[in-house]
Amino acid sequence: MASLYHLLPTLLAITSLTIASSPIQKRLNTTVGITPAMGFNNYNAGLPPSAETALNAADALISLGLKAVGYEYVNIDDGWSTMSRDGEGNLVPDPEKWPDGIEAVASEIHEMGLKFGLYGDSGTETCAGYPGSQGHEEQDAKLLASWGVDYWKYDNCATPSGDSQPRYETMRDALLATDHDILYSLCQWGQDEVWTWGAEVGHSWRVGGDITNDWESAASIAASNAGIASYAGPGGFNDFDMLEVGNGALTAAEERAHFGLWAISKSPLLIGADLATIGNASVEILSNKEIVAINQDSLGLAATTFQPPGAPEPSTDSLYPYWVGELSDGYVVGLVAVDAAESLSVEFADIEAIGAGTFAWTELYTGESGTGTGVSADLEVHDMAIFKVTAA
Ligand code: GLA
Repeated sequence: MASLYHLLPTLLAITSLTIASSPIQKRLNTTVGITPAMGFNNYNAGLPPSAETALNAADALISLGLKAVGYEYVNIDDGWSTMSRDGEGNLVPDPEKWPDGIEAVASEIHEMGLKFGLYGDSGTETCAGYPGSQGHEEQDAKLLASWGVDYWKYDNCATPSGDSQPRYETMRDALLATDHDILYSLCQWGQDEVWTWGAEVGHSWRVGGDITNDWESAASIAASNAGIASYAGPGGFNDFDMLEVGNGALTAAEERAHFGLWAISKSPLLIGADLATIGNASVEILSNKEIVAINQDSLGLAATTFQPPGAPEPSTDSLYPYWVGELSDGYVVGLVAVDAAESLSVEFADIEAIGAGTFAWTELYTGESGTGTGVSADLEVHDMAIFKVTAA
């Protein structure tokens, strides 16, 4: 199924390119999710959905310096509850996984200056077969708020056929009716053109099926969603899925490109690796402050592809080498070596968003900087250079 879901954005991106400039009308009136969420989720690394996992991740975010860079949410995915609701219809934290309950863990995490997130489902069952929230939205939202849950990922398994939007709105209304601001993360895999209505319903929306731990998956997610970049804006973002940086399958170059593409596309940055064993090189990529600052820029605009003279037509079928985005204080230019090691260069005059002129630039992975009418990079295969471009 995952590959089917991947196709949807590709097809729809072609149509959305033509309406890309329509402004986003409405955002949720909350104090959270104004910039893309940053944090940790246990799912990609296959860590158990338990108190131990959450508290270990919280400790590691601090000790590895990731909290200082902005990683804030400690999110626990599918499987944290018992297999059935209690006599009053409430979700029940699995006592084996949460010996002191959820509230105690959430408050410990709050005391560490971090936030805590949980996962649920808009159907009758979660994707792993635990109870879903259909018909229990208000009750579940109240329970989450009472525990101090700060982030709610809402999945799309075991759902009735038909439009998903009303289901996601029911939970939005239930969350907004509580006295706690909860970041609402829609996880319906890019169906029903969610990017066209996602910002009215939640703070981010998954744009496709699940990422897998390989370069092809990361490259195809970034490629197929270049056409829907314009739907990102403050308070609502295209969610490319949780990161695979640090999970052992990608080369260092691929980790730089995967992280860089997510960051400039304003995707949430949710670390999906086991922080107890993650390598230093991966931590260094995740903690690149300047690249994080691009992701968190107040303008909230996502980068997309541009076509320099002589380059092939951009396509959402395969990763494109040339990317540009507007920032509150300049521009970001991304260059990706998609098929082989190569030297890439562009003139600012050939980038419509920037235009001819002399600008100051810094490459954010190497720290190299200069002033000129363009930028260039020698890249190994699947590597990415990310230039911050500002007035000279
Ligand atoms: C779906 C979601 C994933 C993850 C799993 C858990 O596949 O898309 O991100 O939450 O469910 O079962």
